Parts: sequence; structure tokens; C-alpha cells
Amino acid sequence: MDNAYVLWGFKVGAAVLAEDGKIYAGCNVESWISGIGICAERCAIDHAVSHGSRKIKEIAVVTSADSQSEPRPCGVCLQYIYDFAENPKIKVVMAKAENGKILFETVKVKTIGELLPYPFKK
Ligand code: THU
Repeated sequence: MDNAYVLWGFKVGAAVLAEDGKIYAGCNVESWISGIGICAERCAIDHAVSHGSRKIKEIAVVTSADSQSEPRPCGVCLQYIYDFAENPKIKVVMAKAENGKILFETVKVKTIGELLPYPFKK
């Protein structure tokens, strides 16, 4: 989250536990053109895939404590998490963070199947 490139939004960080047992981190990277940047979750998943790990076992997302929004993956990220999830029961851990520390009272855990019950599938 500290490395997030923020022009108009707020800082977000994500980390995925990938099938190779490693944790791949990501952050949101914004552009002045809305839609060109990337969310932290997709950045973290792309990080895992670009290291050869294509399935994820768990994902955590943190947003900066000063953001007004609840820490939640957006709809696009929910589909992307589903696409790369080992199974629909993988956990999505959501929290706010401040000064490098998780605010424990904000932590929520749901499965990707709960957050996206009707994913797009081929
Ligand atoms: N953002 C994420 O990185 N992940 C989410 O799930 C929601 C939103 C980013 C996008 C944008 O850079 C900023 O947070 C504000 O919307």
C-alpha cells in the first residue's frame, strides 16, 4: 500500500498467496485518465501470474484508514479474483491500515463465492 501511485483516489494494497506458496503484493497505480490505471488486487494477481503462478489460494486487500470507502474489491476485481481463484471458497480478507498496521476492528473475511455469487464463466 505504501507504494501505491495515487493521483485522485486513495492508497490500496493487496497480497495474494499463490499456488507456489509465495506471497505476491500489489498496489493501485492511477492515471489522470480514469480506467487506465489498475487496482491493487489485479496488480497483485498479475504479479503472481508474471512469476508463473496462475492460481491463488487467498487474497488480502487493505485500504488507507483515511479513505471514506469500505475496504472492498471492486466488481472488476471480484471477477478477476474469481478467474484466478483455486476454488470459490478462497478467502478474501479486507481491512483498513494505517502506518503499516492493520486496524483489526475493520477486518472482514468472506469467500470469493460469497462476494461474487454469479461470476461470468465460459
Ligand atoms: N481501488 C483498488 O485498488 N482496489 C479496489 O478494490 C477499489 C479501488 C483503487 C482504484 C483507485 O486507484 C482508488 O482505489 C480509488 O478508487
